[in-house]
Order: sequence, then structure tokens, then C-alpha cells
Amino acid sequence: MKNLVLAATMLLVGIAAMAQTRNLPKPNIQRKTLSVMETYKQRKSVREYSNKPLSDQDLSDLLWAAQGKNRPDGHLTAPTAMNKQEIRLYVFTAKGVSLYNPQAHSLTQVATGDHRDIVAGRQDFAKTAPVSLVMVADFDKFGAKNEHSQWMVGVDVGIVCQNINLFCSAAGLCTVPRGTMDQKAIQTLLKLNTNQIPVINNPVGYGK
Ligand SMILES: Cc1cc2nc3c(=O)[nH]c(=O)nc-3n(C[C@H](O)[C@H](O)[C@H](O)COP(=O)(O)O)c2cc1C
Repeated sequence: MKNLVLAATMLLVGIAAMAQTRNLPKPNIQRKTLSVMETYKQRKSVREYSNKPLSDQDLSDLLWAAQGKNRPDGHLTAPTAMNKQEIRLYVFTAKGVSLYNPQAHSLTQVATGDHRDIVAGRQDFAKTAPVSLVMVADFDKFGAKNEHSQWMVGVDVGIVCQNINLFCSAAGLCTVPRGTMDQKAIQTLLKLNTNQIPVINNPVGYGK
């Protein structure tokens, strides 16, 4: 009887864990976007968004462009120093917070509820974007935190951020890179340690 209860409990825990991870639609590599040169021409910071939620396909394409797996060996659209892949990408929406898994192209929910206010910090406009992407530098995964490592990780996080900026420009979405946020509150919510640092965020939405 005891074994039966244990097995049933393990099954329920497993089902609950699976329910918290959802696969994203396949990224649309054939998506019609601006040319590279036109993308640079159009790139700009936008601080006003429609409150319409992002479609699943747009979110999928956005996350893949940011740092999705683009080769069978597991390398990503964003290069990282020594291929450490140490940047965590969190997705904040009105419904909750999820962590992007580049290898599986899936999202794992890590918190429920609307926490976009702690990403917005003192800039209210950022709360109005349906999605806020938060980039967290994970020095534990990088394996070092000396001065050189800090420069390298800073570059890596900037590359992910610029992938987001350029995808938005190419696909007609609106965004702005932001250093402003309530870093402490985000670390607490996401249960991050002092080596896992929210560095920059991008609110993303459709134009007003
Ligand atoms: C590292 C970095 C941090 C930034 N932080 C903020 C911010 O906290 N809030 C904000 O509204 N804009 C922020 N910006 C956006 C800049 O203000 C903006 O890029 C700059 O004014 C140039 O405008 P443009 O992006 O339209 O060319 C940041 C940009 C960068 C690159």
C-alpha cells in the first residue's frame, strides 16, 4: 500500500512538472521580414505598445532569434564566450514568468501572476508591454567571475539583447533595451543567487 501511494505521488509530481513546461511552435525560418540593411535602418527604441498579447508564433520567433538553437550540435543564434551559453532568458507576461529553454525551444513556468511591475521599475511605460524579456547573467554557469569574465559575460548579454532589438526591427515589433528594473525583487522572485544577475531587459509588443 505504502509503495502504491509513493508511486501515485511520484506520478502526480511528474505530471505537474510536465504541465509547467510547454513547447513553443517551431520558429518560422521563412518568415517575411525586412532585409538586414533595412532592419538596421528601422531599428529604434520604442516606449509605447498596444496591450494586445504577442501571438505564440511571434513569441517563438522572437525567443529563437534571441538565443535559440540554430545547429544540430546545440550552438545558438547568439554566440557566447567559449560557447558557455550562460545567459538565462526569462519571459514575463500578465500570466506568469517562464524560463526559455533554447535546446528544447520550450518555456518552463517559474512563477504565476503578473510581475511585469518589477521589470518596469520606475519606468511605468514598460508595464504596458505584453511581454518583457529579462536577461540574467549566470556566472555559476560561466564558471568564473573575475574581471575578464565579467567583460565577456557583459558582451554575451549585449549580443542577446541586440538580437532582440534587431528581430523586433525586422519583424515590425516594438522594443527598447533597458537597464532599469528592480534587480533585487527579480532575484528574489526567480530564486537567483548572487552569481545570477539580471543585467538588461526588453519590453516587447506591437505598435500602438
Ligand atoms: C545598455 C542600455 C541600457 C538602456 N537602459 C534604458 C533604460 O533603462 N530605460 C530606457 O528607457 N531606455 C534605455 N536604453 C535605451 C537608450 O536610451 C536608447 O537606446 C538611446 O536613447 C538611443 O536611442 P535609440 O535606441 O532609439 O537609437 C538603454 C540602452 C542601452 C544600450
